[in-house]
Amino acid sequence: MKLANRLKIIASMIEKGSTVVDIGSDHAYLPIYLVKEGISQRVIATEILSGPFERARENIKKSCYQDFIQLRYGSGLKPIKPGEVDVAVIAGMGANTMINIIEESRETVDSLKKLILQPMCNQARLRKHLFQRAYTIIDEDVAMDANKYYEIIVAQKASIVAFDEIDILVGPVLRCKKTPVVEEYIHYRIKKLQKILETLEASNSRAGEIALLERKRELQALKEVIK
Ligand SMILES: C[S@@+](CC[C@H](N)C(=O)[O-])C[C@H]1O[C@@H](n2cnc3c(N)ncnc32)[C@H](O)[C@@H]1O
Repeated sequence: MKLANRLKIIASMIEKGSTVVDIGSDHAYLPIYLVKEGISQRVIATEILSGPFERARENIKKSCYQDFIQLRYGSGLKPIKPGEVDVAVIAGMGANTMINIIEESRETVDSLKKLILQPMCNQARLRKHLFQRAYTIIDEDVAMDANKYYEIIVAQKASIVAFDEIDILVGPVLRCKKTPVVEEYIHYRIKKLQKILETLEASNSRAGEIALLERKRELQALKEVIK
């Protein structure tokens, strides 16, 4: 089993001895890795679809870690009681699915020490939602896997959270991180946005105008970060 770099980075963000739930575990690679590396001795894997659920069950059985990994069927954190785990991981899904999962189990999410999210798209929308619900972002990183960048966001319940547009568009921790992969990622986003802007500038539609303004603000936010 070769663990994807994004999942390895997520594993490195989990303190040794934590109780963890991996939501939408699919192949159960992350739970197996956490037990194998001695990071956690109690991991719950949840799945909503029967195919991935069976795949997870097979892999857990093959790993011989059935005593350490429990597989539960259901949506998001619904199969978890508030306070039952320290850390929840939601990786490899869209931001909208993640927001639904958070919203359907607010009490359990609020009881977590860490919520680790690796959205496949709409990262800014997810950050805005977290801030609006008073979750603070305590860590962020970028993983590179097979020539693709993946953002990782670590959140925690707070009482009040102050944020601005750069926090939403880039991320409060990411904007200060000066690692080579984060810097490459910011430059990659700038280039991608500049291409999108060229296309939007050629469009005459009202929707195009709004999108153009939004993209320009995003570009400005990214440029601020590398200044
Ligand atoms: C693309 S896979 C990602 C697997 C793994 N987390 C990873 O990052 O490699 C997404 C998985 O999430 C599951 N899933 C989607 N929505 C879910 C939900 N609300 N609750 C639990 N699992 C869900 C899907 O069935 C699928 O197996």
